[in-house]
Amino acid sequence: MSTTTLTTSPGSEPTATGRTERPRVFAITSGKGGVGKTMLAANLAAALARRGERVLVIDADLGLANLDVVLNLQPRRTLHDVFTGQGTLDQALLTAPGDFQVLLAGSGLIEYSRLTPTVREQFARLIDTVRPHYDRVLIDTGAGISDVVLYAISMADEAIVIATPEPTALADAYATVKVLGMQQGRTSMMLVVNQTHRHGEGRHVAAQLQSVIDRFITLPEGGTIRLNPLGEVVSDTSVRQAVQRRQLVMLAYPGSDAAQGMSAIAMRLATLHPPAGRLPMPAGTLVTLLPAPEPVATQEAAQESPADLRAEADLAGATVTDDPR
Ligand SMILES: Nc1ncnc2c1ncn2[C@@H]1O[C@H](COP(=O)(O)OP(=O)(O)OP(=O)(O)O)[C@@H](O)[C@H]1O
Ligand SMILES: [Mg+2]
Repeated sequence: MSTTTLTTSPGSEPTATGRTERPRVFAITSGKGGVGKTMLAANLAAALARRGERVLVIDADLGLANLDVVLNLQPRRTLHDVFTGQGTLDQALLTAPGDFQVLLAGSGLIEYSRLTPTVREQFARLIDTVRPHYDRVLIDTGAGISDVVLYAISMADEAIVIATPEPTALADAYATVKVLGMQQGRTSMMLVVNQTHRHGEGRHVAAQLQSVIDRFITLPEGGTIRLNPLGEVVSDTSVRQAVQRRQLVMLAYPGSDAAQGMSAIAMRLATLHPPAGRLPMPAGTLVTLLPAPEPVATQEAAQESPADLRAEADLAGATVTDDPR
């Protein structure tokens, strides 16, 4: 099988390693837990697939995976098996309802909630292996700024931060944005505001968060961080109903407000970052991602303590809840 034929987007020429100048790997992350990362990752993947993209979602919430629950999939092989040499990548790659592919972590793999050199190396190899074969790779991370979450985000070309309008979620989103700017040198990030109470609230939240960023964050190289708002998803009972039915809201209730919000987000993402183009996955790829022979130095811990960030972020939360509606 040829591995040099591009199947889409002739404008983006992959290099020998499959990298293009177009962003391809996107981490979906949040400061606070339970704000809708997994919901967005799965439904956005379905929306992008409907637009003709070949999409892979990687469940990188390695301690508390639940993408399998949302998608109602019972994988025979998971990332855990691939990482431990008990299965190949081919076996772990599943096609989800919505016509995208997923790599599920396997629930309760507590050993992966610690960022050991082996986990780092395996994860980096995994991303390098899959990235040329998809238009877009979405990494569904855990919440917060633990080293394992930050490492998963560091694998991505672009970070998509999810916030909700609640003060705690906003304060934690601010903390995430600041750490990603300071530690990973990210000068821009995308923002999705989930569970808004009315249409247009997301724009207001994004503007307020940006003003707090402008006020408090100066990057080591100078300048601050620009948020690119991708859109909002209103709080919608269809989402909970779909979760209960273990279906994607994009498929179960395509006409719902939430599904329409996510279609708009997919369109905006595809406009900002058109599909990167891909190489076909060679049939029968027997990739195993066994531990690296050489240990890699562990990543530096956050330079600023969570308490420091919290204090600043509380200020952010206080500012952003001031809705002049
Ligand atoms: N727009 C929405 N409208 C209504 N309910 C929502 C919406 N988005 C998310 N939810 C609810 O919030 C729950 C948590 O969402 P989800 O599991 O995607 O969060 P998460 O950020 O991935 O959580 P974790 O940090 O634990 O990984 C969902 O099961 C759903 O019931
Ligand atoms: Mg999740």
